[in-house]
Amino acid sequence: MDVGRTTPYELKFFPSITDEDIRSSVKSLLFECKDEFVPPLSDRRSPGQSEFGPNHENSGIPVGYFAELIRQCFVLAVHDNSLLAFMSFRSNYYSDDLIEYQPSNYVTTVCVKKVARRLGICSAMYDFMFRELPSHFRMPFTTTRTWSSNKDHIRILTDKKAFSVARVVQDHRGAGIHTIYFGKRL
Ligand SMILES: CC(C)(COP(=O)(O)OP(=O)(O)OC[C@H]1O[C@@H](n2cnc3c(N)ncnc32)[C@H](O)[C@@H]1OP(=O)(O)O)[C@@H](O)C(=O)NCCC(=O)NCCS
Repeated sequence: MDVGRTTPYELKFFPSITDEDIRSSVKSLLFECKDEFVPPLSDRRSPGQSEFGPNHENSGIPVGYFAELIRQCFVLAVHDNSLLAFMSFRSNYYSDDLIEYQPSNYVTTVCVKKVARRLGICSAMYDFMFRELPSHFRMPFTTTRTWSSNKDHIRILTDKKAFSVARVVQDHRGAGIHTIYFGKRL
């Protein structure tokens, strides 16, 4: 697929994904990105997991992660019926990790197709979350978390979207790799 700065795409909100073709596109994109996550998604049981450690049932395929993910809300970036990116989130989210930022729309996973990166799609999906959700899905805060070496995502959150650091869990993903929680008031 040829994707560039001028490729048109549409952002769409899905409170849930029931269509089998869309579910399977989300699954393919998740599997394309699975090894970029720390720890890799196939080592995880769910997007909300609080403790990371070896998963002895690891098959290399993030089946459990997908099963949990697909029950969430989504913003999809679609070009000509093909999925370029997704952002999954839980709405009306409360957590002890984000006590000053609740209730929120908590972004659990962002995946942009490798050929469509650095085109502003992740940035546009956050803007959509801030401004374009139907009124009953709007929350006073948007929140997320990522691992401390994920510079691409952190740059977007702090430099482009003015998120603040809500909490840091030291060495949560392994020695020297922390989990950082972010929040932003709308
Ligand atoms: C992190 C990720 C979601 C970024 O998506 P993206 O659509 O490429 O990001 P954007 O194009 O919106 O980036 C916005 C800004 O961040 C910066 N940026 C993004 N990726 C960058 C990179 N690899 N190097 C340097 N800067 C980068 C750019 O400055 C860009 O600013 P610009 O609009 O002025 O060019 C994507 O790389 C991805 O899917 N990674 C794998 C999975 C992941 O890490 N998900 C996040 C954790 S859940």
